[in-house]
Amino acid sequence: MKLSFTALASIAITLTVAPVAQAIAPLGFNLGVKDNSGACKTGEEYAADFETLKPYSNHVKVYSVSDCNTLEFIAPAAETAGFNLTLGVWPTPYEKYTLEKQTLQQYLPTISKSTISSVLVGSEALYRGDLTGDVLASYITEVKELLAGIYDKDGKSYAGVPVGTVDSWNILVSGEAYAPINASDIIFANAFSYWQGQTQQNSTFSFFDDIMQALQTVQTIKGSTDINFWVGETGWPTEGSNYGASVPSVENAQTFWKDGVCAMRGWGINTFVFEAFDESWKPETSGSSVEPYWGIFTDDRSLKYSLNCSF
Ligand SMILES: *[C@@H]1O[C@H](CO)[C@@H](O)[C@H](O)[C@H]1NC(C)=O
Ligand SMILES: *[C@@H]1O[C@H](CO)[C@@H](O)[C@H](O)[C@H]1NC(C)=O
Ligand SMILES: *[C@@H]1O[C@H](CO)[C@@H](O)[C@H](O)[C@H]1NC(C)=O
Repeated sequence: MKLSFTALASIAITLTVAPVAQAIAPLGFNLGVKDNSGACKTGEEYAADFETLKPYSNHVKVYSVSDCNTLEFIAPAAETAGFNLTLGVWPTPYEKYTLEKQTLQQYLPTISKSTISSVLVGSEALYRGDLTGDVLASYITEVKELLAGIYDKDGKSYAGVPVGTVDSWNILVSGEAYAPINASDIIFANAFSYWQGQTQQNSTFSFFDDIMQALQTVQTIKGSTDINFWVGETGWPTEGSNYGASVPSVENAQTFWKDGVCAMRGWGINTFVFEAFDESWKPETSGSSVEPYWGIFTDDRSLKYSLNCSF
């Protein structure tokens, strides 16, 4: 269903009512787990990342707990820096999913429950067709049960840590995602106006339209407006090839930040941007050269533009 922007706006306003004086919704950063040479990050490198991000957020999201032994190295660094983690569990192939669960069992007992804000099974797994919605839903339920049986360093069960999934907005509004949405405590929607080839002028409209469609679907399936819903990935590249009418540049990224990211948070929707740092180790993919340039910071941790959201 295609709703007008006005209709979507009124839905969002009624559904995300917050006390008037409340600050805008939190910001989080997707964080790569490799350094510029392509090597897995060390605990010291995560600590340096957190030091850079600290003025803007205390929350990062990763895609897998076992890739690069991420959980082993990021968790102690996050605890020391006072950061919160949203952890990804990669669900395919099955051996990988098994390793991800073993990694949770091995390292969650070494840290504090309060460091883990949520666990997301799959990242655009339905978008890629890696598994069916029914299988993903069963994994989400399984990970919830698994967490309930893992105890943190103070003996507290991980039961109750929200478990859900993250996928592209257009997949969330399709029937394939209904079972996983139903099984989830928390849902993250990704939306990239850049990859929709939007003009700079229309990119904010398109972002809001996408996210509001996803939010409305989740609320309808849950039969509730009291849901834990986040933007999981959005952003704008600062260098690399054009895509349709979309043009990478620092100026366009800054405009998308102000008009898209800040405005979405202003509406009360927690937003994770893609991504914290440029990843210069990344190769060109299928004729596009933007992949290394999605960072809010350069690969040597310099801020590319102001993140100030005051209007
Ligand atoms: C992390 O999230 C948990 C649960 O939402 C919260 O209780 C805790 O205060 C957060 N910790 C930090 C460091 O933000
Ligand atoms: C949602 O989950 C509940 C409880 O697990 C189940 O009874 C219900 O059939 C599910 N609904 C859909 C649409 O999958
Ligand atoms: C703007 O974005 C919307 C939503 O994605 C799309 O339907 C519309 O065609 C776009 N308009 C222009 C002028 O590009």
